[in-house]
Amino acid sequence: MEQFDYTARPARIVFGRGTLGRTPDEVLRLGRSRVLLLATPEPAEAGDRVAQVLGDLLAGRFDGAAMHTPVEVTEQALEELRRCGADCVVAVGGGSTTGLAKALAVRTGVDQVVLPTTYAGSEVTPVLGETENGIKTTRSDPAILPETVVYDVELSATLPRALAVTSAVNALAHAVEALYSPQANPVVDSMALDAVEHLATGLRALADGVDDLEVRADLLRGAWLAGTCLGAVGMGLHHKLCHTLGGSFDLPHAPTHTVVLPHAMAYNAAAAPRAMDRIAQRLGVVDAPGAVYDLIVAAGGPTSLRELGMPADALERAAELATATPYPNPAPLTRDGIRELLARALTGERPGTAPGPGGAVRALTGQVVRSFDGVAGPRLSGLLQDLVRRLHAFAADNDMTQEEWQAGIDFLTRAGHITTDTRQEFVLLSDTLGLSSVVDVLTNSRTPDTTSSAVLGPFYVEGPPELPQGTDISAGLPGTPLYVDVTVTDTAGRPVADAAVDVWQSNEDGYYDVQLPDLDGPVLRGRLRTDPEGRLRFRSILPSEYPIPTDGPVGELLTATGRHPYRAPHLHFLIDAPGHRQLITQLFVQGGKYLDSDAVFGVKQDLIVDFEPRTGPTPDGADVGDEWRQLTFTFRLQPTG
Ligand code: BEZ
Ligand code: FE
Repeated sequence: MEQFDYTARPARIVFGRGTLGRTPDEVLRLGRSRVLLLATPEPAEAGDRVAQVLGDLLAGRFDGAAMHTPVEVTEQALEELRRCGADCVVAVGGGSTTGLAKALAVRTGVDQVVLPTTYAGSEVTPVLGETENGIKTTRSDPAILPETVVYDVELSATLPRALAVTSAVNALAHAVEALYSPQANPVVDSMALDAVEHLATGLRALADGVDDLEVRADLLRGAWLAGTCLGAVGMGLHHKLCHTLGGSFDLPHAPTHTVVLPHAMAYNAAAAPRAMDRIAQRLGVVDAPGAVYDLIVAAGGPTSLRELGMPADALERAAELATATPYPNPAPLTRDGIRELLARALTGERPGTAPGPGGAVRALTGQVVRSFDGVAGPRLSGLLQDLVRRLHAFAADNDMTQEEWQAGIDFLTRAGHITTDTRQEFVLLSDTLGLSSVVDVLTNSRTPDTTSSAVLGPFYVEGPPELPQGTDISAGLPGTPLYVDVTVTDTAGRPVADAAVDVWQSNEDGYYDVQLPDLDGPVLRGRLRTDPEGRLRFRSILPSEYPIPTDGPVGELLTATGRHPYRAPHLHFLIDAPGHRQLITQLFVQGGKYLDSDAVFGVKQDLIVDFEPRTGPTPDGADVGDEWRQLTFTFRLQPTG
């Protein structure tokens, strides 16, 4: 059982587009009415916009926020706070303005409303770093945490693309290190994993040249979640290393995080395998550190400390500083290890993989994935690369043995041998694994206004006989008589005339005509056309449940796993009408067997229909003896174009 401590930190979050306009309401909500606006001298635009919306609530403005929150600047701002009699501060900008707001709050108790323009995340932490005489001190206090954060996606979109990349990776680092923090807990874990997903989605879009409000919304949402993690649990090697590099070599904050993160992850990978697996899973990759590196490269972020101005001969000193005071981290901190990490980061090498089979598999996967880089169009290359990643992960995660691999190959070989023009074992395999139904849902059943589709199945025959309305397609075969009366309409309910409707079904014993070589000609199948009212009537027999073919490897699989091979009783339809999307579907007999356990997972709720039991006169006046059934249904087709 997992044991954990978790402290919720009270802060109000207002997230969306154009939320900057809600700032005055947020000030009033706190019971405040005199605002000191904090901003940076450049760019002045964001400050001007907030000043404008604040209107009469604006009591003063201080534009001098500076990096690392120097105490001298805080004192000037304090003077302005007192002079204008403000009862709260509104800070708009990055880490510097947020830092200044916090510094004022911890000294005077004023309430803070923060509007972040970067992904730094400090607006949701109770931590303040200040500098005095060149020395940086950090403190944590609940009074430091801003009361309200207004995230405006439009405002964040003013952050230039290159800065957005490094700032987003900075945020990603909070989420990554939260997952292997000694204080990690399930609440923070979920936020961290969501942050990883949102940030990676945003960064991938930037890498693909897409930069719109949706992309910025992903990045900002990830930044908020990641910042919350930063405020909730302690960080490890990555943050300490960046702190050392920034402080001692004056390297820029977010770009340093961007360069170091993949290397810090690789350093910790073997010691924090669960965290890495969870990150890799959210990213849809096998090798999380390598994938983060690749994402940074693709998004055009910096990859080497050298390009940030780190001198090559500073490695030893940096390694010494970074290991001088011990702190919790998954992998033990050794001077040699850190020097090696820094040497890679200095030149921008792709992070090395860990030794052992895990490392070798990651390296192999990377090699194979890269072999498909840019082949024959992005779709094919993307599909192949993802297939390789998942196949490799499947083998690795299950520790697949040579014998198991061989059994899989033998299975596929037998499936190949039994497959002919009329027997497709691979489709049957896909059907029984539910894959055909997944693809069917993805391709055909996205709109709730149209009738759901269902798999075609192997018993469809192209070009069935054209039959007039009212035909008995059972041609007198034994079974409960069935009268079908269906209508074809579009999504607005307008009848679709002259639609070609192919129908096919099994006989009373569960066989299709193509399975019965002694049967004379096509039976229980045909093509009929709707009348001007979109109506179609024909006669048949009630279909019954039947087993899918079990004489091949798919049958062996079902037997070996204790699964039955039966399909729930159904009638197939393939409807073609000009100006409409083709509909391939099945109607299932309500109350029929196996509706809950159909062997190919093809049953959908709206396709289960009452094949109503009737007695007495039939629609065509035929004398059918006892009971007969009536099927009435309306198919709704999606108009094209
Ligand atoms: C069928 O409904 O005809 C069918 C579908 C998938 C596999 C086997 C049969
Ligand atoms: Fe069928």
